[in-house]
Amino acid sequence: MTEKLETILASLPAERRYLILFLHLVQQELDYLPEEALRAAADYFAVPPAEVYGLVTFYSAFRLKPGCRHEVTVCQGTACHVRGAGELAAEFSRLLGVRPGDKNPEKGVALRTVNCLGCCALAPVVVVDGEYQGRVQVSKVPEIVKKLTGKK
Ligand code: FES
Repeated sequence: MTEKLETILASLPAERRYLILFLHLVQQELDYLPEEALRAAADYFAVPPAEVYGLVTFYSAFRLKPGCRHEVTVCQGTACHVRGAGELAAEFSRLLGVRPGDKNPEKGVALRTVNCLGCCALAPVVVVDGEYQGRVQVSKVPEIVKKLTGKK
């Protein structure tokens, strides 16, 4: 097991209720959840591996493969959809030069869409490099993209 995984595990009690927190912390650190992290989680939190896998595939916030340096996720769930998420995705796509569900390795940007991020009251919701932004207006997209592409 890598040192990073060991450090994260050591910071948490070996109780099942810390499993999701562990997964979030690993993804924050490594940008995705390697198989090794899932196995370590199953052992440490005494949860069947199939359950850990079921959890990470159920929540669209978790990634099992490395992404791009930057990632924009636009929720397309019902609450977000009725509040203009389609236009948001189209505007991000136009400005980033990447189709929804695709990535642009040259720019290091991926544009994802998901069906619900679990914070519908803030619709439409966008996640930019892990930061949730609620009630995003299409007029704000150029500013978000400028900030994002200005980052290293
Ligand atoms: S529908 Fe977008 S957060 Fe739930």
